[in-house]
Amino acid sequence: MGKTWYEIKDPTLAEAGIKRIEWAYREMPVVKLIRERFTKEKPLKDIRISACLHVTTETANLALTLKEGGANIILCASNPLSTQDDVAAALVEYDIPVNAINGEDEETYYKHINTALDNKPQLTVDDGADLVTTLHTKRSDLISNVIGGTEETTTGVMRLRSLEKAGGLRYPMIAVNDAQTKYLFDNRYGTGQSTIDGITRATNILWAGKKVVVCGYGWCGHGITLRAKGLGAQVIVTEVEPVRALEAVMDGFQVMPLIEAARVGDIFITVAGDKSVIDKAHLQVMKDGAIIANSGHFNVEINIPALDSLASNKRGIRPFVDEYTLDNGRHLYLLGEGRLINLAAAEGHPASVMDMSFANQALCLEHIAKNRGRLEPKVYPVPEDIDKQVARLKLNSLGIEIDTLTPEQKQYLTSWQEGT
Ligand SMILES: NC(=O)c1ccc[n+]([C@@H]2O[C@H](COP(=O)([O-])OP(=O)(O)OC[C@H]3O[C@@H](n4cnc5c(N)ncnc54)[C@H](O)[C@@H]3O)[C@@H](O)[C@H]2O)c1
Repeated sequence: MGKTWYEIKDPTLAEAGIKRIEWAYREMPVVKLIRERFTKEKPLKDIRISACLHVTTETANLALTLKEGGANIILCASNPLSTQDDVAAALVEYDIPVNAINGEDEETYYKHINTALDNKPQLTVDDGADLVTTLHTKRSDLISNVIGGTEETTTGVMRLRSLEKAGGLRYPMIAVNDAQTKYLFDNRYGTGQSTIDGITRATNILWAGKKVVVCGYGWCGHGITLRAKGLGAQVIVTEVEPVRALEAVMDGFQVMPLIEAARVGDIFITVAGDKSVIDKAHLQVMKDGAIIANSGHFNVEINIPALDSLASNKRGIRPFVDEYTLDNGRHLYLLGEGRLINLAAAEGHPASVMDMSFANQALCLEHIAKNRGRLEPKVYPVPEDIDKQVARLKLNSLGIEIDTLTPEQKQYLTSWQEGT
């Protein structure tokens, strides 16, 4: 395998990729600690891993950690537009097979997933569940080898839960997304910062004074609204869940149906993990000049076929910006072909936050390997001790200490007798 088993854009980019991977590693102290332990203990010795992740500097550091742990890992992209070609080239230099090219078409994307599956995985690592779905549908002959897998994102966990509910899930999965040290930080602060970063890099717009419509007030929505507000934007939230809508109201945002927000917004950001959130009717009433971006996992949140059908002309006006001229004479600007804009037009989440997500990944893979044969084909939460351990290590790395419960407090918190 190794250097002979890869398809990347350009091997000469390796040196630049190696430097950027090293730069990211400076901000990944928890992964570093895990890597040091894995190097000694080899908890994944000779285990074959197929990983479908955004090919970024942080992912490279996770892959190197798993390799140090003894794993035989192969990587493919979890999105056609998120691959950093210099990182892919660097991984080949590190002798980690990778099949990923930025801008690959759908056929190549699935070809690369299939190449990753040719490794006959014992563990799968997925971000969005395309690899696991391919394994369950077209490559199910390989499932008997699999010990278990992990899923990185909200949308992937939703798909796995649906598969489990339909009785089709064939091996144990850990929902890494659902660790507190994942979604509270990666989805909120990571997506918050990097989505704003992606839109800014693509457009160079001034946020102050803009009416920004955020569709979906989940953890990603919390982060994006927080950062947009901090930059001086007037933020409008759209939701379908009453509790989340109410939370947005009390967090100080305007909440209204999207059909109303569509008429007034300057920038629209979908982050709902849902289909056709921005639909034809919304596109038809948007103002001339409105900018539309998605930061949810798949490029289905904006109804792009409807946008195409409404447009008399489409041209690329800047990298990652397509101008659509509508039959009504207005212009709408779609960013990054509706793919997650933080990874398409920027570098994805900062390393410091991926440090926690990927520490969870590494520790969960170790947990599955240790518990081989003892887990059922279900979607499991991240074990609480792993979640707490990641938080503790991150605090340590930041030089922050916290208090501990006294024996009296421990007793009080677990008893029912004491009252007024
Ligand atoms: N860009 C990234 O790097 C990145 C990082 C993490 C997660 N994600 C993805 O972002 C998406 C959101 O993740 P999350 O963790 O915030 O999910 P979440 O489940 O916490 O939040 C999604 C919210 O969207 C709302 N919603 C659903 N349909 C809607 C609609 N039609 N209109 C308005 N609101 C609607 C839901 O009620 C929910 O409150 C997922 O696809 C996830 O995989 C992307």
